[in-house]
Amino acid sequence: MKIELQRESPAKLSVPVVTAWCFEDDPVSSGTMGLLPDATRRLLAELKETGELKGKTYERTFIHRPDGLAAQKLLVVGAGKKDKFTPYLTGRLAGAAVRFLRTRGIHQVGWICGEETDAELVQSVSEGAILADYDVDCYRTERNGDFHLDSLVLAGQSLKISEEELSAAAERGLVISEAANFTRSLVNEPANRMTPTILAQQAREMAARSGLDFQELGLEEIRSLKMGAFLAVAQGSDEPPRLLVLRHLPPDAPESPIIGLVGKGITFDSGGISLKPSHNMHEMKTDMAGGATMLGVMQAISQIRPKVRVIAVIPATENMPGGKAYRPGDVITSMSGKTIEVLNTDAEGRLALADSLTYARQLGCNVLIDAATLTGAVTVALGNITTGVFGRDQEWVGRVIASGTRQGERMWQLPLDDDYRELYRSSIADIANTGGRYGGAITAAMFVGEFAEDTPWVHLDIAGTAWSNEEKPYLAKGPTGIPVRTLTDLLTHLAG
Ligand code: BES
Ligand code: MN
Ligand code: ZN
Repeated sequence: MKIELQRESPAKLSVPVVTAWCFEDDPVSSGTMGLLPDATRRLLAELKETGELKGKTYERTFIHRPDGLAAQKLLVVGAGKKDKFTPYLTGRLAGAAVRFLRTRGIHQVGWICGEETDAELVQSVSEGAILADYDVDCYRTERNGDFHLDSLVLAGQSLKISEEELSAAAERGLVISEAANFTRSLVNEPANRMTPTILAQQAREMAARSGLDFQELGLEEIRSLKMGAFLAVAQGSDEPPRLLVLRHLPPDAPESPIIGLVGKGITFDSGGISLKPSHNMHEMKTDMAGGATMLGVMQAISQIRPKVRVIAVIPATENMPGGKAYRPGDVITSMSGKTIEVLNTDAEGRLALADSLTYARQLGCNVLIDAATLTGAVTVALGNITTGVFGRDQEWVGRVIASGTRQGERMWQLPLDDDYRELYRSSIADIANTGGRYGGAITAAMFVGEFAEDTPWVHLDIAGTAWSNEEKPYLAKGPTGIPVRTLTDLLTHLAG
């Protein structure tokens, strides 16, 4: 999708469809509706009378041959109550417009911008539009994904923002949302088409396209690093594991911090010998969403080029039962030297993350951020709406949450406390890999945190938010790309 700009009044815009949005409180003249000519708004007042136009959030009203406009069609998107408005909502409104129009054979859309339009708003609209123009039905022979919007025309007459600022913001939105869509397409792939080997190949190709330094470690190298925890998970699968390492190290960036991005890359989580129930087991193809997130973030920063050092580490493997699989009761030795009693082979993510965090520290990372579809428990706590955030370094936790808020990717911090350590004590080894049902997201996070040791660390449990089982007006059902935008925002803001 191209993002274009026209310094033109909405009335004269030469596009097939003009899009405006309005609040529920005053649907005829609020939002960008107020920028439409009087003749058009008289028509809208009639629709308001008949109750066809209410301005409720994501309500879409499609008007053919609207009075007062050169365009053949007008789409009005509702934005809900004015006092509930947040800046990122504009992106979702643009998304709601795109998803409505793209299946109606419309390839070019005009988006009215008010004079208050700034870089942040432009970025948000361009992001929302591109995220919306994505579908998951890539293996259907007649697919929705074949519809695509060719261009989004941002239009306004009295814009204060300069041409350069505007196109830079639109471009940044494009880069970030295409990175999120890249992550979504990796997560969407079924496990037979997204093995650790294929994930590595996708990462290698992305790195080559993006000019990122890329390294992949195979079984022998993982063995010689003594990653006993990661290897235990991998040993039940016929698919060989991979440890992926990508680096963004601009020479003009400060030497510190070096941010380590660690993403869980379980390409299929059957549970192993502690086999999951078959009900919904197919969803476990998404268990590499944390790893795919970090690949998306690396793609985005390779283009935005923030002056900050970043190393991504992604342990990729399947978790399978089999004759060689690790067993409940096994005691394994992690790369850090800590011994772990495996009480449940389905608590595999924390094992793969443990060694990856140790490795990231060894590579010189002095801030660690991990993203993982780690626990069902986080979904019990926060549902599919909010990502669980954990960490002891409140400054870094605060930075991640602030970026999440800016991007509209909701986050909520859950507590870590040494009292929870009792729950994953082992009578035979240093620690056990599960802490029981209660506080499951917290004990999982604490387990992972043991391997960050004294390095500032933030953990994002995205088990509830990486995938949406519902179609949203602004987003297809399926992979959400969360938290690619948050982490990209964090890294770009760090660099100033
Ligand atoms: N990958 C799962 C967590 C998950 C569940 C992700 C649902 C997405 C949707 C993880 O490996 C897992 O199985 N966790 C267990 C931990 C338990 C055995 C302590 C869980 O949450 O049940
Ligand atoms: Mn599991
Ligand atoms: Zn898992």
